[in-house]
Amino acid sequence: MSSSETKPMLRVLRGETLARPPFWLMRQAGRYLPEYRELRAEAGGFLDLCFNPKLACEVTLQPLRRYGMDAAILFSDILIVPYGLGQKVAFQQGEGPVLEPIRATEELGRISLEGFHKRVEAVYETVERIQASLPPETALIGFAGSPWTVATYMVEGGGSKEYVAVKKWAYGDPEGFQKLIDLLVDSTIEYLDRQVLAGAEILQLFDSWAGVLPEPAFRRWVIAPTQRIVAALKQKHPTVPIIGFPKGAGALYRAYVGEAGIDAVSLDTAMPIDWAVEHLQSKMPVQGNLDPIFLVAGGAMLEAEIDRICDGFSGGPHIFNLGHGVTQTTPPENVDILARRLRA
Ligand code: CP3
Repeated sequence: MSSSETKPMLRVLRGETLARPPFWLMRQAGRYLPEYRELRAEAGGFLDLCFNPKLACEVTLQPLRRYGMDAAILFSDILIVPYGLGQKVAFQQGEGPVLEPIRATEELGRISLEGFHKRVEAVYETVERIQASLPPETALIGFAGSPWTVATYMVEGGGSKEYVAVKKWAYGDPEGFQKLIDLLVDSTIEYLDRQVLAGAEILQLFDSWAGVLPEPAFRRWVIAPTQRIVAALKQKHPTVPIIGFPKGAGALYRAYVGEAGIDAVSLDTAMPIDWAVEHLQSKMPVQGNLDPIFLVAGGAMLEAEIDRICDGFSGGPHIFNLGHGVTQTTPPENVDILARRLRA
C-alpha cells in the first residue's frame, strides 16, 4: 500500500466511507490559540507571518499538536493572490483586510501576473517545510480563494455587507469584469500548481461569498471560473483531490457539485443534512458542517450536534469540519471536546 492510501483524508476523498470521519477545521490555526497570538506578536504584521516560512510552518502545526487533526492546512490567506498580482493589501489588527480598491476595467493595469511567483514564493517554501514535518497519517491541504470571493475584496477594498461596487461592475460591465476574473483564474492555477509541486496533497477553493449572487451570475462568476481552475489543475495533477466550498449557495450547491469538476464539497452551516445526503453526498464526498458557534458555546449541546452531523452523514464519504471558520472567542478546551468525541 502506498503511504497516501493510509491517510484517512485521502481515503475519504477517493470515495471510501470510514467508520469514524477524519476531521480538520477551517481556520484551525489562529487567534483562539494563545500560542498563535504569541507568535503573531513576534512576527509583527499578519503578512510578515504569512511570508515567514519558519513561523508560518510553526503556526500550521500548532493546532495539530493539540488536537491531532487528520489534515494540516497551509497557514496563509486568500488575499495573498491579490498581493502577488501587485495590489496593495494590508491587515490592520482588529479591522480585517484593507486593499487599494480596483473598481473598473481601466484600473486593471495596476495588477498583473508578472513577478507573481517572486512575490509569493515564501508560501511555496512554507508548504515544503510543513510537508517535511507532518506525521505520516496527516494530509497537507493547500488552498486559494475562488475568483469571485477574491474579486469581492479586490473591488470593495476589504470586507463588504452589500457588495455594491463589485456587483455594479459585474452586472454593468461583464466583459470588463471578466478580465479581472480571467486574471484570477490564471493566477490561481499557477499558485495552486506550485503549492502541489511543493507538497500539497489536497486543494481547497474557498468561495466564501458565493451565496450573494443570483443564479445566472452564480453560474458565470462562481461555477465557470472554478471549472476552468479545476480542469487546468486536473491536467497537471490528476490525482490531487480538490474540495470546493461555495458558502451560502443554497440550492445552487447542486449545480456547483454537478458542474464545477471538483472532487468533494464543503457544506456551510445552513445546509440541511438530509438534503445534502440526497443531492450532494450521493455524487461526491462531503465535508462539514458544524456551526462554529457550537465551539464557543460548548457543553452537552456541542456533543449532541457533533453526533447529529456524524450520524447524518454516516452512510457515505464524510470529512468532519465546521460550516465556516473557527471564531476567535472559541475556548481551546471546546476543540478538545470535539477532537475526543470524534476519536471515541
Ligand atoms: O484555516 C487555516 O487555519 C489556514 C489559514 C487561513 C486564514 N485565512 C488565516 C487568517 C485561511 C484558509 C484563510 C481563508 C480566508 N481568508 C477566507 C476564506 C474563508 C472564510 O473565512 O470565509 C477569507 C474570506 C479570508 C480573508 C480574511 N483574512 C479576512 C476577512 C480576515 C480578517 C478577519 C479575521 O478573522 O481577522 C483575514 C485575516 C486572517 N486570515 C487571520 C487569520 C488567522 C487573522 C489575522 C490576525 O492574526 O490578525
